[in-house]
Amino acid sequence: MKNQETAQAPEARVHWSSRWGFFLVTVGSAVGLGNLWKFPYMTGSNGGSAFVLVYLFCILLIGVPLLMAETLLGRRGQASPVGTMRLLVAEAGASKAWLAIGYIGIMGSFLILSFYSVVAGWVLEYTWQAAGGFAPAPKEAFGQAFSDLLANPGRLIFWHTLFMAMTAAVVLGGVTSGIERANRIMMPSLFLILLFLVGYGAFAADLPAAFRFLFHFDAAAINRSVLFAAMGHAFFTLSLGMGAIITYGSYLDRATSIPRICLQVAVADTLVALLAGLSIFAVVFAQGLEPAAGPGLLLQTLPLAFSQMPGGQVVGFLFFVLVVFAAWTSSISLLEPSVTLVVERFGLGRQVAVLLVTLGIWLLGVAVALSFNAWSGVTLFGLGFFDLLDTLTSKIMMPLAGLLIAVFTAWVMQRRHVADEIGLSGRSFSFWYRVVAFVSPVAIAIIFLNVIGILG
Ligand code: PFF
Repeated sequence: MKNQETAQAPEARVHWSSRWGFFLVTVGSAVGLGNLWKFPYMTGSNGGSAFVLVYLFCILLIGVPLLMAETLLGRRGQASPVGTMRLLVAEAGASKAWLAIGYIGIMGSFLILSFYSVVAGWVLEYTWQAAGGFAPAPKEAFGQAFSDLLANPGRLIFWHTLFMAMTAAVVLGGVTSGIERANRIMMPSLFLILLFLVGYGAFAADLPAAFRFLFHFDAAAINRSVLFAAMGHAFFTLSLGMGAIITYGSYLDRATSIPRICLQVAVADTLVALLAGLSIFAVVFAQGLEPAAGPGLLLQTLPLAFSQMPGGQVVGFLFFVLVVFAAWTSSISLLEPSVTLVVERFGLGRQVAVLLVTLGIWLLGVAVALSFNAWSGVTLFGLGFFDLLDTLTSKIMMPLAGLLIAVFTAWVMQRRHVADEIGLSGRSFSFWYRVVAFVSPVAIAIIFLNVIGILG
């Protein structure tokens, strides 16, 4: 342990058992439905390689520096997102308004989990079906099967309940014996399954076509909407601004170097998205299907492909298990921020806190499930409840929190505290500091104004 003069929470906080533990849980948070569901369909609908290139650029220029900043805040605070901000605000002698970073994070993770769990529920249903093998049927039948699922509140709520229970069960186990242990099992398995699927793509599907689709650069395809979609997705995929990274950072000990590990997390997250994209499009192209199928790519196009392919049952099942693992480890990181806040604020035990928070998120998720059927007529600003939550969190709360985190770190905290915590010096520190001070805020402000323009 070094530099012990930092602000510390009154009680010693539990820490991940090693830097590898922190790496796994953070990759677990980052790699999720965003990588396996959103990234492939967004790439498919936004011109393939153009989107990929802009996305990579955003990850490097905005994502990685902010991931470092957010981890730094959490580690310095050693408390929940709100507790952390309280400490840092006091240390900097800044306005209490900056506590907004903590509150937006807590609210954001709570709201995201309510719909994330419903989508993960769809994936559970498809995993179940994949275990029995998808029966060959015409294309329309797969579209119809998905519409039937959405129209059935009982099934949606059943799977959502199961998924929330799975998430709560892990978080109940605590930081190291619950969260870290689950990630230690699921993340390496996820990576192995993914490698197997890419290998399968190389032998049994059309990997070269997928490769061309993702990496054949076409500058003409880059336009404003590609740019904004890619920026927004960079936030989502790295779990930025929503309390998850601050919370995981708060369980990090001071011996671990933040910059290196954050870079490794971003590389792993990007690698998973690209490998998943390769294996998914390899299958899609081999079966002559449509890459730009939108959100239905994972649940309509892929089952159709699996139903026609040699070995489709095993590959299809493994694929959906991979998606479940990815979604599960992300949802754990969405539950923990509120749990740690409730424990800290109300002095409750972890068990009670997990039950209370899970119940709240579950209830909101039931409303999300009903928004696809019984309440589909209910809209606000022209959006159904699901779209409303998605828009509010990924287009408004995430960029806003990211902007506040960048400004707080670079302009409000004392420079020497930041330097001490991040553990960079010389040129590399100045470079990172300038990016967080100027590049990230300006880039985020531009996305933000654009979104307000679209909504307004
Ligand atoms: N990064 C996750 C994904 O790509 O699916 C989603 C996510 C997890 C967003 C945790 C925000 C968060 F705090």
